[in-house]
Amino acid sequence: MAFINDNFIILSETYLFSEIARKVAAYKEHNPSANVIRLGIGDVTRPLAPAVVTALHQAVDEMGQASTFRGYGPEQGYDFLRQTIVSHDFEARGISISPDEIFVSDGAKSDTGNFGDILGKDNIIAVTDPVYPVYVDTNVMAGRAGMQDASGAWNNIVYLPCTAENQFVPSLPDKHADIIYLCYPNNPTGTTLKRDELKKWVDYAREQDSIILFDAAYEAFISEPDVPHSIYEIEGARDVAIEFRSFSKTAGFTGLRCGYTVVPKNITAHSKNHERIPLNRLWNRRQTTKFNGTAYIVQRAAEAVYSAEGQQQIKETIAHYMHNATLIREGIEKKGIAAFGGVNAPYIWLKTPDNISSWQFFDRLLNEVNVVGTPGVGFGPHGEGYFRLTAFGSLQQTTEAMQRIAGWKL
Ligand code: MLT
Repeated sequence: MAFINDNFIILSETYLFSEIARKVAAYKEHNPSANVIRLGIGDVTRPLAPAVVTALHQAVDEMGQASTFRGYGPEQGYDFLRQTIVSHDFEARGISISPDEIFVSDGAKSDTGNFGDILGKDNIIAVTDPVYPVYVDTNVMAGRAGMQDASGAWNNIVYLPCTAENQFVPSLPDKHADIIYLCYPNNPTGTTLKRDELKKWVDYAREQDSIILFDAAYEAFISEPDVPHSIYEIEGARDVAIEFRSFSKTAGFTGLRCGYTVVPKNITAHSKNHERIPLNRLWNRRQTTKFNGTAYIVQRAAEAVYSAEGQQQIKETIAHYMHNATLIREGIEKKGIAAFGGVNAPYIWLKTPDNISSWQFFDRLLNEVNVVGTPGVGFGPHGEGYFRLTAFGSLQQTTEAMQRIAGWKL
């Protein structure tokens, strides 16, 4: 007789964004002529940068010639990309990271979700609340979350509330946490941690012998100078923090798939025998066993993001999205609704008016003005009463969505 992993039974039936897609599809089926504008899932709409497309074509041609064809590549990523990442994303900021601390992958969702494979089941996990659901759901799958209460909170997870009341800055936990997930600029709230605030977390992790899993997928959207681009800008972070990066939002790779994870060689955690084991070694073992590397053509495409033309082109695309973010934020505020984020991140987080629940707001927005967003409660109990809009639509869609919202009788 075969047995399943019972942790999958206690997990909600569908992943948040699949549930939203299902609801929107059902609405479209009943209202086939409705022009629905999707500002829900953070999926990009602008095409790839021309420099990236050229690199892809060249790499495809190489794959079509016996002399330049490539089969399995290094599971950790090709040297050309690991070197480029190190010099551009880290050395240029005065951060010392070596290429063998970079693991190229198919994206930050996979890496943040998979990283738990190398961590013990009894670790106490802390997450900001609201939070990107992958961190929580994958810990439920691993059996680290315990049981869920009526608010949706899991009893073995330490929640760090981030609401308008604390300006979305999480307080240090009042009980010990072994593993802390931080995502900055933040998904879903679009808010940031300033250097001195992030330093408190690095200091906490050093004092408590904890590990920070730092998701910097939205780093390219930072516009303010006092917001760190990498956790390694903070002194001491190399001893306690793993950093996840993604080309998805930075360079429109949501359909191409590429990201990377930084695992500094000096970071260790305890074995059951109280030996300190380097996480770089374990992550390498995990990746070489379960992952055969990111496609060569995709890695060449990622390398092209760092070329002078690539940088110029992705900056224009990011500016386009951030213009949408401004339109959304201003439009929401004009309606007298409190809005957050949208300055260093492509997400606008709004407080639903008149105590409407997140899902009620979702239903009304969809039914009354045909605009899709993401209910805040889908990101955690402290997301209740909030709602997320993404700036990743086209300018035309975003403008039209905001015109509809402006005329909406709430
Ligand atoms: C989101 O909408 O939160 C993101 O698209 C999710 C992701 O990057 O996986």
